[in-house]
Amino acid sequence: MTNQNNTTIKFQSGEQIPVELHKVRIVQKLFLKPIEERYAAIEEAGYNTFLLNTKDIFLDQLTDSGTNAMSDNQVASMLQSDDAYAGSQSFYRMEEAAREVFGKHYVLPVHQGRAAENIVSQVFIKKGQVIPMNYHFTTTKEHMELNGGKVLEIYKDDALQIKSDKPFKGDIDIDKLKAVFDEYGAEGVAFVRMEASTNLIGGQPFSMQNMRDVRAICDKHGVMLVLDASLIGENAYFIKKREEEFKNSTIKDILLEMNRLSDLVYFSSRKVSSTRGGGILTNSEDMFLKMRDLLVLYEGFLTYGGMSVREIEAMAVGLKETCDDTVISQSPAFIEYAVNALDAAGIPVITPAGALGCHIDSMGFLPHVPQTQYPAGALASALFIISGIRGMERGTISSVRDENGDDILADVELLRLAYPRRVFTLSQTMFMIDRMKWLYANRELVGGLEWVEEPPLLRFFMGKLKPVGDWPQKLIAKFKEDFGESL
Ligand code: F0G
Repeated sequence: MTNQNNTTIKFQSGEQIPVELHKVRIVQKLFLKPIEERYAAIEEAGYNTFLLNTKDIFLDQLTDSGTNAMSDNQVASMLQSDDAYAGSQSFYRMEEAAREVFGKHYVLPVHQGRAAENIVSQVFIKKGQVIPMNYHFTTTKEHMELNGGKVLEIYKDDALQIKSDKPFKGDIDIDKLKAVFDEYGAEGVAFVRMEASTNLIGGQPFSMQNMRDVRAICDKHGVMLVLDASLIGENAYFIKKREEEFKNSTIKDILLEMNRLSDLVYFSSRKVSSTRGGGILTNSEDMFLKMRDLLVLYEGFLTYGGMSVREIEAMAVGLKETCDDTVISQSPAFIEYAVNALDAAGIPVITPAGALGCHIDSMGFLPHVPQTQYPAGALASALFIISGIRGMERGTISSVRDENGDDILADVELLRLAYPRRVFTLSQTMFMIDRMKWLYANRELVGGLEWVEEPPLLRFFMGKLKPVGDWPQKLIAKFKEDFGESL
């Protein structure tokens, strides 16, 4: 695989460096606090990084959702927003941009991605139907199950392998998809869902060829193909980089082709377009009419969908900017740099580098911590204590319990270090890599976690845990030995 793209530049040493092709014109102060204060903060947060306050955080790598840097043109566009309950010009500008970028005529605005999932699930899933997909996303699955559907993950057998050189681990396994239709028949399948840059398995893309193959099967059975386009720009970027046929295509053409292959597209614009909000798109008047009434009921009128008009204006500009190679390559170029550096240091990280962030395999990192003591949550807490960096646990804490009250152990225990678009600099990335290497060298000092307060629903958001034993104190002592008074 080549390591060339628009923002990665070869230095004299031969090193490939992701150079920022933007300048920073608004800055926000960060706090890198002493290790004792970081320890106090994670104690207060119950070893749950969702419960930290950003005043205690240095690099917030929790998510790329709603945390991306907007461009000057996006911020400028917000000034021309047109406040109107109905018929806002801001909406029509966004509608025009969405039609241009997605090639779909009907544009339904919603307040964020999961709102789109609610409407799509209510309208298109009948009780007992299955929804085959490359992989679920948490909110997607909840909405589908609430409406009586059953999620079937039909990724390829090696998709969850941590270390890999497979360029498209987000592909659907075509034989498994055929088997789903053999078993359930077309009437038993609500729709097929493809998630661009498959979030929970490490931001891994699917290929255009795979999408075409899925489309052909959907056509054969008269079942619709739904695309979750929240991370579509990055998936298009990987198609351009990794799929021979598209190496000379523009991102815009790749985006149009992915959308053309889909009957219905929805997205979180907290990710794509670097704003806040979301949308549902289709060319089918029939589908549009089916969703329209629920949109008004749950989201707001058809021309704002629960979003502020200022965000809608910025979304119009942001959607067009998604087609710009230098805009879309910035985050994957930084992720690739970081993943390659971590991998070279022997740290178990999902490869090849994908979208969204670096995904550390916590079971490989902390093999001595049993899965029932939540290695990904423990690693997230340890990293925060020693660096002030906030990552997100994507493992068994984010899972649920079965009817016997036992944890349903996650397929993979990941610590996700997200890269919000155009937010962090290279020296900040180097700091993260340095502290991860130190933590890896001292990994035997890190222990597990146990529950103190475990809410029955979405426990990963609000639950509180504590360390098993006194490992944080030992970690802090070693940190001070090695770094002295340095932060
Ligand atoms: N689909 C995908 C693939 C997502 O990654 C997300 C959100 C959603 C749907 C839901 O969108 O948050 O706007 O309601 N992912 C965020 C994350 C939360 O941190 O990865 P939303």
